[in-house]
Amino acid sequence: MTIVINMRDGIDERKIKVVARFILEGKLVAFPTETVYGLGANALNVSAVRRIFEAKGRPTDNPLIIHIADFSDLKRLAREIPREAKLLAERFWPGPLTIVLPKAEDVPDVTTGGLDTVAVRMPSHPIALALIRASTPIAAPSANISGKPSPTLAEHVVDDFYGKIEVIIDGGETNVGVESTVVDLTSDKPVLLRPGGLPLEEIEKVVGEVEIHPAVMGKTVGIARSPGMKYRHYSPNAQVIVVEGERERVRRKIAQLVGEYRSKGYRVGVMATEKYEANEFFYLGKSEEEVARNLFKALRALDKRGVDIIIAEGVEERGLGLAVMNRLRKASGYRVIRA
Ligand code: TXA
Ligand code: MG
Repeated sequence: MTIVINMRDGIDERKIKVVARFILEGKLVAFPTETVYGLGANALNVSAVRRIFEAKGRPTDNPLIIHIADFSDLKRLAREIPREAKLLAERFWPGPLTIVLPKAEDVPDVTTGGLDTVAVRMPSHPIALALIRASTPIAAPSANISGKPSPTLAEHVVDDFYGKIEVIIDGGETNVGVESTVVDLTSDKPVLLRPGGLPLEEIEKVVGEVEIHPAVMGKTVGIARSPGMKYRHYSPNAQVIVVEGERERVRRKIAQLVGEYRSKGYRVGVMATEKYEANEFFYLGKSEEEVARNLFKALRALDKRGVDIIIAEGVEERGLGLAVMNRLRKASGYRVIRA
């Protein structure tokens, strides 16, 4: 049985208290964050965290992010808090930044996928903060079945988990639309493990140069430092093809591909920042913020409309564009065409 609680018009503290009790009892609760919806459970409760992995069909070596509401919570979760962590937290928390630190004893191995490190973030969504404050630090991966696009609407969570978890809090559409940026602070230099809702350029203003893990840009992953790197990700049922390059050439290439695939009898969807003729079209918006916000919604919506192929217009890889292209490449299984 799943209870869907509507908080689109604001926080209901009484209901938050009830849901917090669910968390403390080891139940699964999906809730909005500013990035995407999370599938939450008490981060320190082994059996509750196990249920997250089962519900998502997530490999058990892919660790979870622990969500906190106060900086002091970090002291319970991390063995050491380096200077960079303090600087970044002070500047960007609450917000779409996750930091990886040496794990404290208290954190169960299931939560960190057996790693000796722990990923922590303080989300800025008022519902997420209120729920954590009323309960405990919450482990929460994105609330999608493993391998599917992340959820930016409660409806997406309903599609994936209705009947499988206890509560879904509907807080409306999430604002950022891509997941948090993940930075590893356990070696000499900060390393970007996943681009996300906080642009790398902003982070570098605070801690100087950040190394980019090779898996962020490309396909090859040797030993995965962030286990999430090695799995299939963000994929709708349709085959995604990404077209990148200079604007005018991209425009011509997409139009050509639509024609070719349609003539072979495929239903083709296009997601882009300008209008295309196709069987289905999803407008991503103009600014990079809008494109990030609409990205997963577009993949899920085109899938629902039953297209066989989704052609996605590539964006420039700066600011939020780095996160957008990272998601698109993975969604396509690296079928990227340079126009
Ligand atoms: O915005 C977000 O981060 C969302 C919302 C719900 O907060 N959460 C999210 O969680 O995207 P998830 O589980 O879908 O992605 C977590 C990523 C994975 O790539 C995982 O491998 C990495 O963070 N990660 C978690 N713990 C780690 C650790 N100790 N070391 C390295 N990478 C870690
Ligand atoms: Mg995820």
